[in-house]
Amino acid sequence: MSKPLHDPLIEVKDLRVEFDVRAGIVKAVDGLTLTIHRGKTLGVIGESGCGKSMTARAILNMIPKPGKITNGEIIYHRRMKNSLESQVDDIIDLTKVDPDGKVIRQIRGGEIGMIFQEPMSSLTPVYTAGVHINEAVSLHHLVPLQKVGDQIGEQVQAHRKVTKEESRVIAIDMLRRVGIPKPEERVDNYPHQLSGGQRQRVMIAVALSCEPAMLIADEPTTALDVSIEAQILDIMRDLQQSANMAIMFITHNLGVIASMAEEIVVMYMGKAVEQGKVLEIFQNPKHPYTQALLRSIPKLGKKKTGERLASITGMVPDPFNLPTGCVFHPRCPMFMAGKCDKIAPQWKKVGEDHSVSCLLYE
Ligand SMILES: Nc1ncnc2c1ncn2[C@@H]1O[C@H](COP(=O)(O)OP(=O)(O)OP(=O)(O)O)[C@@H](O)[C@H]1O
Ligand SMILES: [Mg+2]
Repeated sequence: MSKPLHDPLIEVKDLRVEFDVRAGIVKAVDGLTLTIHRGKTLGVIGESGCGKSMTARAILNMIPKPGKITNGEIIYHRRMKNSLESQVDDIIDLTKVDPDGKVIRQIRGGEIGMIFQEPMSSLTPVYTAGVHINEAVSLHHLVPLQKVGDQIGEQVQAHRKVTKEESRVIAIDMLRRVGIPKPEERVDNYPHQLSGGQRQRVMIAVALSCEPAMLIADEPTTALDVSIEAQILDIMRDLQQSANMAIMFITHNLGVIASMAEEIVVMYMGKAVEQGKVLEIFQNPKHPYTQALLRSIPKLGKKKTGERLASITGMVPDPFNLPTGCVFHPRCPMFMAGKCDKIAPQWKKVGEDHSVSCLLYE
């Protein structure tokens, strides 16, 4: 039987994530709709603070306080492993499940793997009321006083029917696959005995060890050097092929997106502004924001450690005082007075697999 062309795994529909802070309400994600297909990679790009990580966290129902999902659905088409006779997916709205319950704990790590952005590398511009977002969100990290092999092993044992011995073999194999030298020895190391880059690779090994249906990779390789990055991307592609894994890939690196993703979503101020096939958008970006972003994003082979998106002209607006009409209008080189500051743009199809939300095309 051939695979269906569109086999949705996650459908995010009109998602809103808000932070109710002393100064007002921050709309971190503001009416986002997107679909992640089984076995495919969706790239997510956009300036720092546009809501990429909060979207990823919403999928796992892990929004840090005081943040909340205030609207929308996240439909997960769950297909249980090892159930050959079952053809029908279980449909779960991830926004409705108990964030501390059994279901979401099975899904997190077991069915949806996650590699979070390194806490130090985030540049989120708004730290209101002294809350640093990454203090609240560093939920998936290595435990200091536990051997890395045991950390991978426990993850595997929690989600797959394997013995302790088998889980150790899997852990060694995963460490080898992420490029850790002498994995049979490293498996008994504690996190502090590894370098930062090796720890990040162990995190990646943990995320991939259960062969999840989907991997959320939030700038997974930003801290790694180019050759290790290439190796990690290869592993992700391998698993995608062999296990039909979907990937939500968040990065500022255009080269990585081009080599990994079939489709991309461009985000600005919590909204998608353009989406479609990667090549189509790279060759023919329609939204002035996408055009600016593509000019400013680091190109393949120009990676530096900790590299950040070059800035686009103008400031990101005050979250408590959002522009009317199109939120990008104060920075837009194509601004049309009386229109862009008055009317909120709708989605417009501009190609076979290409849509944009911009008044220039309405
Ligand atoms: N604790 C918080 N309090 C208030 N606002 C917050 C908090 N955490 C996040 N936000 C808001 O959510 C927005 C989106 O944050 P998010 O981490 O998703 O951005 P991002 O696109 O992942 O950025 P980066 O590229 O820097 O990782 C931020 O711009 C900020 O306005
Ligand atoms: Mg982020």
